[in-house]
Amino acid sequence: MQVLDCDNLVIGSGLAGLMTALRLGRHSRVILATKKAADESNTAYAQGGIACVIDPDDRLEEHVRDTLGAGAGLCREPVVRALLAEGADRIRELEAWGVRFERRAGREEEYDLGQEGGHSRRRVLHAGDMTGRELIRALLQQAEACPNIEIRPELMAIDLVTTGWLRRPGPNRCVGAYLLDRRSGAVLAIRAGHTVLATGGAGKVYLYTSNPDVATGDGLAMAWRAGLPILNLEFVQFHPTCLYHPEAKSFLVSEAVRGEGGVLVNAAGESFMEKYDARGSLAPRDIVARAIDQEMKTRGDSCVYLDITRRSEKFLRRRFPNIYATCLKFGIHMAREPVPVVPAVHFFCGGVEAGTDGRTQLPGLSACGEVACTGLHGANRLASNSLLEAMVAAHRTAETILAAGSSSRAAREEIPPWQSGAAVPSDEGIVVEHNWNEVRTVMWDYVGIVRTNRRLERALRRIRNLRREIREYYLDYLITPDILELRNIADVAELVIRSARRRRESRGLHYTLDYPQPDSSRPAQETRIQDPPGGAVTDRLD
Ligand code: SIN
Repeated sequence: MQVLDCDNLVIGSGLAGLMTALRLGRHSRVILATKKAADESNTAYAQGGIACVIDPDDRLEEHVRDTLGAGAGLCREPVVRALLAEGADRIRELEAWGVRFERRAGREEEYDLGQEGGHSRRRVLHAGDMTGRELIRALLQQAEACPNIEIRPELMAIDLVTTGWLRRPGPNRCVGAYLLDRRSGAVLAIRAGHTVLATGGAGKVYLYTSNPDVATGDGLAMAWRAGLPILNLEFVQFHPTCLYHPEAKSFLVSEAVRGEGGVLVNAAGESFMEKYDARGSLAPRDIVARAIDQEMKTRGDSCVYLDITRRSEKFLRRRFPNIYATCLKFGIHMAREPVPVVPAVHFFCGGVEAGTDGRTQLPGLSACGEVACTGLHGANRLASNSLLEAMVAAHRTAETILAAGSSSRAAREEIPPWQSGAAVPSDEGIVVEHNWNEVRTVMWDYVGIVRTNRRLERALRRIRNLRREIREYYLDYLITPDILELRNIADVAELVIRSARRRRESRGLHYTLDYPQPDSSRPAQETRIQDPPGGAVTDRLD
């Protein structure tokens, strides 16, 4: 088995991974491993932008208030203050790296700031409606030019390697990871003084998601299997407006469209959001997604519509070039007719427990970006706060690792060759395909926008059976990227269900008919799941 050595291993090439690698790469040797092409990540699909107090008329206090309001009593306020306050510095750094944010026509010194749900004012920096692509373009260019960063695409992490798992004496620490080379099928190990999980989200746990195929919760599942605590996983954010079209694969129609005057209407053309919230179509996402769900169920409709026909074609083409062109590709002329939309899973507010500096409970391992839960989002993320968190936390993560100095201990640990045992190549690909669909359908049907105890029980039983089957498959056959992703989505699915079962109230993104109100008898609690390393299937009930 090939063993590669580096000072720091960064897993994931979205905004968090690239920014961490760039900063670490100034002073240390970095391997940036990413499971597909380096430019493929959740970030790359981000449309809206980065929320940041940058307008002289804006106030940090207002952004803090909006964030806490969306988070429904569960944000960690010191974290909110710390992360939001550093936004402007990081934006300047991104610009120094070549990122271009939109400026106002004829007033180049001013940013063209977007408006999104839950924000009391315009504060979202964007690059048209393809902000993520612009971030990745510029940062990847920098990373490719950095002599200390080795970018390794098509390398999919399998599991973290810890001294506990290696049965070494002394305190447990992470010393690297096993990874599968997708091109050759070989397993290799990367030994690192420090490992950073920047693997993004897990939208693929659900049948319908705005996330790309890579979002399979790999880092979350690996961290949980390594025995790390996972926080607040019941708070799964549904984006209210994904394009409803059989071939559109839940293409996102940015919240910025509502920010520019788009109004949600039902099939009868009636604006309905006012019935649910005084902020109308620009209420926070949990409220809008639930209202759409309710409207569709009450009327028996399969979608609602986003009407932006009040804006001119010229404006829409300039402000939303990607959305405009995509709608047109599917025969929808957004300047002339309302766009059919439905909610789909978009973002995981919970994740691996981590500080704003990426620190986790396991020495040698940090986590930042969507895979981590710092406490910024609480029970519901405010729009465009995630890229803000990714860039600030990535910076802090790298600074903290550099300040601690790279440990040479990891490099001395002998990592045993990957054991395939009696595993044989699979001739049962159909099992993976079937279980993949089943996990995602169970989650969509029973652990969606509106939950109940019975649905959660049913989902837990099914997911546990599936996990048993997947585990057998994982042990019997040589591993492939598909089985690794299936194992990860199934692990994350169970964690979401277990977290949801523990929350006996409705709060933010977790809404259950059995407890329709927040529990006001005690302060809001975070949900924390931590199991012994190994990730074995058990019948433990929380
Ligand atoms: C959007 O453009 O609506 C997505 C922005 C976000 O999820 O923060």
